[in-house]
Amino acid sequence: MKSFYLTTAIDYVNGSPHLGHAYEKVLTDVIARTKRMQGYDAFYLTGTDEHGQKIQQSARARGVPTQQFVDETAAEFVQLAKLLNLSNNDFIRTTEPRHKQVVRAALQQLFDKGDIYQAEYRGFYSPRQEQFLQEKDRLPDGSWPEIFGEVIEITEANYFFKLRSYQQWLIDHIAAHESFVFPAHRRKSLLEFLGEPLNDLCISRPKDRLEWGIPLPFDEGYVTYVWFDALLNYYSAVKDLGRWPADFNVIGKDILIPAHGIYWPIMLHALGLPPPKALLVHGWWSINGAKMSKSTGNFVDPVEFCKTWNVDSLRYFLVREMTVGMDADFSRERFLVCYNSELANNLGNLVNRTLNMTGRFAGGVVPAAGEAAEAENELQTLWAATRDEFIRLSDGLQFHAALDRLRAFLTETNAYIELRAPWKLAKDPSPAAQAQLHTTLATIAEALRLGSALLWPVMPSSVEKIRAGLAQPALTTWEGELEWDGRLAGVKLGPVDILFPKPAPEKKS
Ligand code: ME8
Ligand code: MG
Repeated sequence: MKSFYLTTAIDYVNGSPHLGHAYEKVLTDVIARTKRMQGYDAFYLTGTDEHGQKIQQSARARGVPTQQFVDETAAEFVQLAKLLNLSNNDFIRTTEPRHKQVVRAALQQLFDKGDIYQAEYRGFYSPRQEQFLQEKDRLPDGSWPEIFGEVIEITEANYFFKLRSYQQWLIDHIAAHESFVFPAHRRKSLLEFLGEPLNDLCISRPKDRLEWGIPLPFDEGYVTYVWFDALLNYYSAVKDLGRWPADFNVIGKDILIPAHGIYWPIMLHALGLPPPKALLVHGWWSINGAKMSKSTGNFVDPVEFCKTWNVDSLRYFLVREMTVGMDADFSRERFLVCYNSELANNLGNLVNRTLNMTGRFAGGVVPAAGEAAEAENELQTLWAATRDEFIRLSDGLQFHAALDRLRAFLTETNAYIELRAPWKLAKDPSPAAQAQLHTTLATIAEALRLGSALLWPVMPSSVEKIRAGLAQPALTTWEGELEWDGRLAGVKLGPVDILFPKPAPEKKS
């Protein structure tokens, strides 16, 4: 079996999970499930990033021991993964011994080989961003940008990682691997950034300033920089499974430069490991046109949202609404339009009609199809084109466009029902009318079986309900499942609960 390994960013546990976190995990899940449908043994890793200044500060602000704080908040992220119906194979927490051990071994290896050295550091430091600042970070008026918070001047000995020695290697690697960063414009910005010389990376923090981190194995008076620790999660989780390198590290646009695009491949290369095959960089969600933030009250809580609506409608909306790599806006109005017209009225309606009409006009058993006329042939032709396009677009990560094609197929299937009007045919006892009724019922059941199979990566639990209604086994692969055939003839259909109930108008999200 072909293997595929994909990861998400690991979320900071200094707050609760938000819509951006949910999107990234759903997107990665859709890719993992698509790969599995295509016969890959896909391994999906997600997890939480639990060290660093911000987390230590948040724990202190709440007045609880840091370990207790991260245990509690990490549990919210584990819970969200379940609620989102993610098919992750592992969930890594950077406070786990299996991870810390790998980080310490990596630090020791780089130290022994001379890639980590100690030097006196003097300069400006932003505790909020956990970052040393340079003169070029100042605003034109000499002050520091607000994002850095209070900036302090410090002098201290620290350890540095020789990024600069590997800069040319990285440039050459990116130049030689066009697919290293998706989408292409992000690769271009990364290469542009590498046009300037890199500074070596300060990878230590004195323990008296930050104790919540992994101690350096060669100097226990320091802990390691949170990024150095966090990035290695992708490797530490699968080191013994022979999965490295990752096929995709899925991340948001804010953490490409410098973390994933520079530190990460250089760390790996220095350790004698291959870089990930690709960095998949998604855009950011705003909510009702505004930057997402709890304080401005435009925060969509994914947990509440799943409870108010259902997980599949959230998954569907996130994937249909955002072009992978671009930004998108989450608006309640857009969601409602999409829910009503695409889910309830299009897909939901097809499911209900198929089951109800087969029940009323054929005793609940799918009839064998008679000879196909033009309308049936057209629908079958449309199916073949839809399927091929859907797969081609999914392979290119254009899931929003793939769903668009599928939607058109479902719409055509509903239009076909209107055209044939089985409720009229049922009243006509002539053999011709009865034959056409049977063909119609067989055709729509088959269209539903096929169309829903393509939806499985995005809406797995709804599709399993539909398949149970069609008395079909749970889907494990697309192989042999996407051809128009007569397998449903003679099958007794079961009931399906309403998948997308019309929400009460007062429902809040
Ligand atoms: O950056 N829309 O964690 P994080 C879409 N711990 N995605 C968003 C988003 C938004 N509005 N806001 C955040 C970290 N994200 C580090 C990662 S990886 C070794 C360490 C995305 O909790 C963000 O881009 O701040 C990132 O990919 C992920 O959520 C976690 O963000
Ligand atoms: Mg962030």
